[in-house]
Amino acid sequence: MKRISNRILVTGGAGFIGSNFLLGWMKAGGGPAVNLDLLTYAGNAANLASLEGDERYTFVRGDVCDAELVGELLRRFEPRAILHFAAESHVDRSIASPERFIRTNVLGTFTLLEQARVYWATLDEADRTRFRFLHVSTDEVYGTLGPEDAAFSEETAYAPNSPYAASKAGADHLARAYLHTFKLPVVTTNCSNNYGPYQLPEKLIPLTILNALEGKPLPVYGDGKNVRDWLFVEDHCAAIRAVLANGRPGQTYNVGGHSERTNIDVVTAICDLVDEMRPRPNSAPRRGLITYVSDRPGHDRRYAINAKKIQRELGWRPAEAFESGLRKTVRWYLEHGKWVEGARTGAYRDWIEKNYSERAQMLGLATGE
Ligand code: NAD
Ligand code: DAU
Repeated sequence: MKRISNRILVTGGAGFIGSNFLLGWMKAGGGPAVNLDLLTYAGNAANLASLEGDERYTFVRGDVCDAELVGELLRRFEPRAILHFAAESHVDRSIASPERFIRTNVLGTFTLLEQARVYWATLDEADRTRFRFLHVSTDEVYGTLGPEDAAFSEETAYAPNSPYAASKAGADHLARAYLHTFKLPVVTTNCSNNYGPYQLPEKLIPLTILNALEGKPLPVYGDGKNVRDWLFVEDHCAAIRAVLANGRPGQTYNVGGHSERTNIDVVTAICDLVDEMRPRPNSAPRRGLITYVSDRPGHDRRYAINAKKIQRELGWRPAEAFESGLRKTVRWYLEHGKWVEGARTGAYRDWIEKNYSERAQMLGLATGE
């Protein structure tokens, strides 16, 4: 029987984490890769412009829910692994319009698993043992923590609170079931909040950097005391490489930055960095732009990751401290005005209008709140 290739199939590789992963993978000589991405509002082909002409890289525009396409790609490229990043990823959008999240995150993951199962069954034993389905998931499946609660471990019970988190939890359960029932070698990562280059400015950190630069209000939901455990995106990519290389099939690995910060601390830190790198002509501190707005419904209070398992088994730990990573990130956004311009499409601007200017209406709150 024919041996599988050294190629990997990445889904969602034109998004924030996927493009950081692919750029790092190619730079490190990681072998050929096919990127299946629908280029939704969140996908940006410009992120991967530097890979154009690289014969190791193939881009396919398509939907992970398209079983025929996925099956055909597996037969044609015979990858040794599928790295599944593609998802609808923004919690606020999942509150405004949940349906897309169920389709992409649940049905899309099911489609990939099912096509992977069919493909995997055609391989010989050595290749079946070598093959991996790496499912990239989130810490949000675990729900929310109180201030004194222990950080999420791999044993924490699932308790997703937003439609996004529930759709990712559904996907995780399907991944687990395909391992258990069909023995497909699935491994899952559950990671905390990422930040770094190429993140669409609908998420807290890039949105705050750009609004601060442009002197716009800096929207902070609720009391600003919600806590996230921040991880520099390159550290997440390194964790995924480690899990792909040595993770045990059937296992889940929590990935986190040991960097819990309240949102208000993150926003003020960004204000200070932007003040330092781009002082305003009148020297007015950007902290003055902070504006408290209506809270996100069902807003999880705190996330924190216990990442001991991946450290113990695979020797992974975050390399970047939050302060240095944030500094690098602010500098990257200040130096990549063209990328920012390209990322702010009409669809992006429509969302910003809906989430901030029409926020009260969208959340069903009395206007004036
Ligand atoms: P993103 O929204 O930036 O990118 C998602 C990518 O998936 C885009 O390129 C988009 O075009 C593509 N996509 C969406 N629907 C698709 C479909 N039906 N078919 C094919 N491609 C499709 O997301 P991200 O922040 O890079 O997150 C990547 C993965 O990591 C997601 O699965 C997310 O749940 C998970 N994750 C994200 C974070 C984070 O902080 N961003 C943390 C932990 C886990
Ligand atoms: O924890 C991992 C998750 O992190 C990923 O699975 C998601 O894909 C990713 O989007 C992220 O989810 P969050 O909801 O935590 O990220 P976001 O950047 O949207 O918000 C971070 C925190 O900041 C959250 O508490 C809400 C708050 N926030 C967000 C925005 C956009 C604000 O206060 N103001 C804002 O304008």
